[in-house]
Amino acid sequence: MRRPLVAGNWKMNGSRQEVSDLLGRLAGLELQQSVDVAVFPGTLYLERAVAGLKNNIAVGAQDCAIRDGHGAMTGETSATQLRDAGCVMVLVGHSERRELQAESDEVVAEKFVAAQAAGLIPVLCVGETLQQREQGRAIETVTEQVEAVIRVAGIDAFANAVLAYEPVWAIGTGLTATSEQAQQVHEALRGVIACHSASVARELRILYGGSVKADNASELFAQKDIDGGLVGGASLDADEFGAIIRAAGI
Ligand code: 13P
Repeated sequence: MRRPLVAGNWKMNGSRQEVSDLLGRLAGLELQQSVDVAVFPGTLYLERAVAGLKNNIAVGAQDCAIRDGHGAMTGETSATQLRDAGCVMVLVGHSERRELQAESDEVVAEKFVAAQAAGLIPVLCVGETLQQREQGRAIETVTEQVEAVIRVAGIDAFANAVLAYEPVWAIGTGLTATSEQAQQVHEALRGVIACHSASVARELRILYGGSVKADNASELFAQKDIDGGLVGGASLDADEFGAIIRAAGI
């Protein structure tokens, strides 16, 4: 039985004051035992989040360097340093980084490996653009994004990772994939993993991301292969995020 995970990606949002307010409200949420919860604040606020969230909300980073450890990589933060700061997870391959920082599948695979080498759980994000969906290439696109990481990291690495399906056209647009559209891709992704290892596929949590809100979360999370959500905008509001967490509970 896979435990649902609801994760909030704060992206480049929040001032010190806003982050303090949000952390205070999140720390006050009554969480169900049956759901794992994580937040991914901006790098500057990670330590503050680790210190402020004692109610079993895990803290993760939004990105890490391609190498773990320490060294000459100006401007980068390594998974080792994130772990030292108290992070337990890290997003890799978010579509905004693939697009804005031109991160290739190879770079994403390196980050996935670096994250695990430092003891972090990578949350590998995959998703197709609107054009790729309209060309009927949604499943082919996400399959290649996952296979690129399997080639480098090996399938067993997915026993300690999370996968997130985030259709690019649904991110921050208010357009959500229907639960059928999402389930179809999640099932296909689990099938890709199962071709390598049935047991890893059975245990792997696959989150859906893309305009998840309190009012669409229950239907999405009810799908057989959807094991929770990666929530952007709605995770900045503690009440809304709390309602999404409740939707994932049993
Ligand atoms: P929104 O929930 O704002 O669409 O963002 C989704 C996302 O990119 C989470 O990583």
